[in-house]
Amino acid sequence: MAGTTGKRPTTAHMIADPERMRSEILVARAAGRRIGFVPTMGALHSGHVSLVDRAAAECDDVAVSIFVNPTQFAPHEDYGRYPRMLEADATALEDRRVRWIFAPSAEGIYPPDFATRIMVDGPARRFEGEIRPGHFSGVATVVCRLFIAVPADVAYFGAKDWQQTLVVKRMVRDLGLPIEITVCPTIREPDGLAMSSRNAYLSPTDRGRATALAESLALAERMWAAGDEPAAIERDMTDHLRSRGVDVDYAAVVDGESLEPLANTATAAVALVAGRLGGTRLIDNRQLPTRRGTG
Ligand code: PAF
Repeated sequence: MAGTTGKRPTTAHMIADPERMRSEILVARAAGRRIGFVPTMGALHSGHVSLVDRAAAECDDVAVSIFVNPTQFAPHEDYGRYPRMLEADATALEDRRVRWIFAPSAEGIYPPDFATRIMVDGPARRFEGEIRPGHFSGVATVVCRLFIAVPADVAYFGAKDWQQTLVVKRMVRDLGLPIEITVCPTIREPDGLAMSSRNAYLSPTDRGRATALAESLALAERMWAAGDEPAAIERDMTDHLRSRGVDVDYAAVVDGESLEPLANTATAAVALVAGRLGGTRLIDNRQLPTRRGTG
């Protein structure tokens, strides 16, 4: 049964070649093993580890990919300085029942004459899609490529990147990709800051201010429960973020699946927030329960 066999901790097997990775997964699946896959860009933190532990609890074998994907960064973004620490990441995964670490080169994923890109719309259209044009196309392309190299039964993504989870689920549905998607809860620091590899960029002062994102989401939750309209909630979230020195990209309360304005209260809502502190861009979100009486 998945998750009950082979529980002994092991050191993961590091693989760079996509074809070799694929054949190892297919051999394991042919032997009846359920495979869980955790795609990452490395710089692993407790949020990633929680995905790995969930995969290990639900699957027989776990594969983790570590690949800083160039196609999801715009030229002015942080691709060059994104933390790369493969050895430390491998150490962080020791004793966690990870069977494979897939760490391909950029050329392994994108050969020199690579000419294909997945276009995405729907949940990719607003928010990160507007502020980071091409970002979700890059995410969808690499995730599809990774799903081919790691043909697992189920892939695990963190709810912290809520819009990304919607884009990936829509791609899987639209293209009929044979993989399940499981979305796992956001892991937070004790003061509420959502775990992110980019938190390491924050200066001590900005790290102190960064709790403003989670605070604005807690405010949204309270106002939502009190029956306030999305526009009023968004205004107060923005005011709070600005008062803490956050340069706000957006603070929104929208339909939790389409990310479009709320048409009625029968659909689940989500509060989304993004902003910059110093040179660091942070995002966060919170699910809001369905309620009656507000359109
Ligand atoms: O969430 C991430 O770390 C990345 O966007 C992903 C899904 C690994 C694709 O590069």
